[in-house]
Amino acid sequence: MSLLEVRGLNSYYGDSHILFDVGLHVEKNEVVALLGRNGAGKSTTLKSLMGVVTPRTGSVVLDGVELAGRKSHAIARAGMQLVHEERRIFASLSVEENLVLASLTAPDRWPLERVYAMFPRLKERRESRGTDLSGGEQQMLAIGRALIRQPKIVLLDEPFEGLAPVIVRDLVDACRELAAAGQTIVLVEQNLAATLALADRVYILNNGHIVHEGSAEAIRRSPDIVERHLGV
Ligand SMILES: Nc1ncnc2c1ncn2[C@@H]1O[C@H](COP(=O)(O)OP(=O)(O)OP(=O)(O)O)[C@@H](O)[C@H]1O
Ligand SMILES: [Mg+2]
Repeated sequence: MSLLEVRGLNSYYGDSHILFDVGLHVEKNEVVALLGRNGAGKSTTLKSLMGVVTPRTGSVVLDGVELAGRKSHAIARAGMQLVHEERRIFASLSVEENLVLASLTAPDRWPLERVYAMFPRLKERRESRGTDLSGGEQQMLAIGRALIRQPKIVLLDEPFEGLAPVIVRDLVDACRELAAAGQTIVLVEQNLAATLALADRVYILNNGHIVHEGSAEAIRRSPDIVERHLGV
């Protein structure tokens, strides 16, 4: 059985049907990327897994436990973490307070030093308020807040968006290190190069439908797969 098994997800905003029978699976230690055009439903998929959006029908099984229909805090406690596009750190708290606060309600947690080892920049900035951080530092903190809860699976929504190439490189390296340490990751990204550098397997979403599933290796060999579905 896969670590994450998703079947027949249908999600709506009001009357708008956004996700159509979305199904996917993620194995333990796997990095799975979700690609798709703007508005394809990538964020909605992650939110539906995390219970931020409640899917109308479908099943989300993490490590043998059915999570569909449960509240996001319960899903977090079951071992899933979502790093939102908007990062959502506490601007008035310091870096360290943000990390400690995130870890408090977790059943298991990383030691603070492990987060700092992964993101040395956060250690240097441990006393700084959220408001004083650069975009890259905020993203590191958002990811650090998720990891400190020692999730079974972490969902990253466009973690490299809007960041300078040198910061993206650091974050890709950190994600690689994380994957090498066995962290299971679902990654939504527009940056195809960064995605293919990290992912083992790729799903492509189009208008709320999964239209392709395959290895990242296959896409590296024939990028026309992505071109066909995304027109990039
Ligand atoms: N809160 C909301 N209320 C109503 N419609 C929404 C809401 N959020 C997203 N949508 C719509 O749902 C569809 C899917 O949006 P979603 O944010 O999941 O796409 P996405 O693939 O993440 O796109 P992007 O690449 O722009 O982040 C879009 O048509 C979008 O306009
Ligand atoms: Mg999105």
